[in-house]
Amino acid sequence: MAVVAACLPCGGVGFPAVTEPGFLRATRASYDAVAAGYSGHFRDELAARPLDRAMLAGFAELVRTAGAGPVADIGCGTGRVTAHLNGLGLSVFGVDLSPQMVAVARRSHPGLRFDVGSMLALDLPDGALGGVMAWYSIIHIPQERLLGVFAGFCRVLAPGGFVLLAFQVGDEPLHLTEALGHAISLDFHRRQPGHVAGLLGQAGLVVSARLLREPDEDGNFTERTQQAFLLARKPAGAGHPDARQPSY
Ligand SMILES: C[S@@+](CC[C@H](N)C(=O)[O-])C[C@H]1O[C@@H](n2cnc3c(N)ncnc32)[C@H](O)[C@@H]1O
Repeated sequence: MAVVAACLPCGGVGFPAVTEPGFLRATRASYDAVAAGYSGHFRDELAARPLDRAMLAGFAELVRTAGAGPVADIGCGTGRVTAHLNGLGLSVFGVDLSPQMVAVARRSHPGLRFDVGSMLALDLPDGALGGVMAWYSIIHIPQERLLGVFAGFCRVLAPGGFVLLAFQVGDEPLHLTEALGHAISLDFHRRQPGHVAGLLGQAGLVVSARLLREPDEDGNFTERTQQAFLLARKPAGAGHPDARQPSY
């Protein structure tokens, strides 16, 4: 009997402008304000992070091998990691809440597709993707919305597709009122990897790898907390028992 992978229902309901949550408006306005300076500031950050690139390389290889479809970089910002994944041989496009971040992404990477959209209401068909990446973007999602976001990731993934998350570790949110010389109002939700892994599981995704990296306190891009990277997969369904290899 085939086992059908099931995602927790996410509702798939968008937010009409009049009822849009305040945190989304604040996040969009904050990133719109910093967009022009963001790509220059973070241009060389990934080059200084070999372990982060190792997670991206592993994700890319797994997605390519599974061959289940394209990748969405959700919360892509100015597209620097979207372009990195494209360089690793993935068919990838970006989605971001901030129209100004998307405008910079389109200018910086004219060969790639970038759409304005929210991970709270993904405008993508069920089962369309081989991979979803959220690289430091779930950090702006409040706790009570996170399970719904992961259910949405599960919905848009094809069976056998992968999710890669990056986020700061911690227990208390950080609120910033200034960044890159602009006034902003932005919450950064730090989380424990075990808690995030539990929510991924509740959404129907199976966690297959976790990297906990100590903060870089000396380099050009100093960090205040540990950094977490979680890889999860939407179950592909059970194979025929006779075809399985023994495990040791
Ligand atoms: C810290 S930046 C990371 C950008 C990019 N992933 C990178 O590593 O350079 C967070 C990004 O997430 C986006 N974002 C925040 N909330 C979002 C949401 N609900 N849906 C889509 N994007 C969102 C922001 O607009 C911003 O561009």
